[in-house]
Amino acid sequence: MKNKIIVTGGCGYIGSHTVIELIENNFEVVILDDLSNSTEETLSRIEKITGVKPTFINIDLKNETKTKEVFSNHKDTKAVIHFAAHKAVGESVQKPLMYYKNNLYSLLNTLSAQVENNINGFIFSSSATVYGTPETLPITEENETQRPFSPYGNTKKVAEEILDDLIKSNPNFAAISLRYFNPIGAHESGLIGELPSGIPNNLMPYITQTAVGLREKLMVYGNDYPTKDGTPIRDYIHVVDLAKAHVLAVKRIIKKEQEKALEIFNLGTGNGFSVLDVIHSFEDVTNSKLNYEIVERRAGDVPKLYASTDLAKQKLGWTASKTLNEMILSSWNWEQKLRNKTK
Ligand code: WQD
Repeated sequence: MKNKIIVTGGCGYIGSHTVIELIENNFEVVILDDLSNSTEETLSRIEKITGVKPTFINIDLKNETKTKEVFSNHKDTKAVIHFAAHKAVGESVQKPLMYYKNNLYSLLNTLSAQVENNINGFIFSSSATVYGTPETLPITEENETQRPFSPYGNTKKVAEEILDDLIKSNPNFAAISLRYFNPIGAHESGLIGELPSGIPNNLMPYITQTAVGLREKLMVYGNDYPTKDGTPIRDYIHVVDLAKAHVLAVKRIIKKEQEKALEIFNLGTGNGFSVLDVIHSFEDVTNSKLNYEIVERRAGDVPKLYASTDLAKQKLGWTASKTLNEMILSSWNWEQKLRNKTK
């Protein structure tokens, strides 16, 4: 008998890569997704890669009745990985209520449905944004969290607080929150990857869309930060490395290896690269010039973020394996296949 895992948001960027790793590790996967920022096409691509088409349920998790109904049909689920959320930082500043409603109602309905059906394992898709502007680097899980700049970021922080209250009230419930640094890259097949709707907010898809000719030029938001070249430093992490950490977290929950009912792990490489480092690496690995311009700072950007990865290594036995060049090449491979172009 395979262990059954529910993956909310399993058609999305990180979700779909995690579904592949779960299937390859012999789990049975049930995807819950409303396709608000993804497509059903991802399911056949997952099948192409793994030979297995996961069960798919098109559901809006804001609907409590339907959410409870779905979970009651899958009472034998061992753990839930909760990716389903809106994630555009800028949009969340414009539409805070939409973000709080979407990200928190779906979380609350998922958790309530789990408690009702005695499904006691939960893995949460969190973010380094909960550290705000860190006072010390590298960032360990002991760093104080701060009120994130954006409503999006705050939904992640509030969600962790909700989990903390839940585990205190329910001795059976176990949760792991994974705080991602900057996920980039795509599956080596080039069949799945990040598909931002509209104009990308994040650096990597903006670079690849510029290089492929969809955008005229990349705007580099500021070069007057207190860093080696004036552009902000981030800890970029390959999405497949991230996905593998989720499988280890699921196994830890199923084997009841947790030391605390709510465990928190940073997921990054521990290496910091500036925006110009990423641009120059892209130019090197693709042997091309990228059209870019230095412009004003973007509101809310912090100068430097990179992870201490010791805890994930010690407790999950996880370390990131992909280099920045490998991450960039896989993003580029995906973008080219997507646009059906080769350079
Ligand atoms: C990286 C660097 C930009 C775009 C955000 C969220 C975080 C997480 C990942 C999302 C910054 C610069 C970017 C561009 C640029 N969650 N940049 N020109 O802001 O570190 O993190 O995405 O789901 O919670 O906050 O990532 O890729 O947007 O930016 O110069 O067109 O690239 O200023 O220094 P960020 P990013």
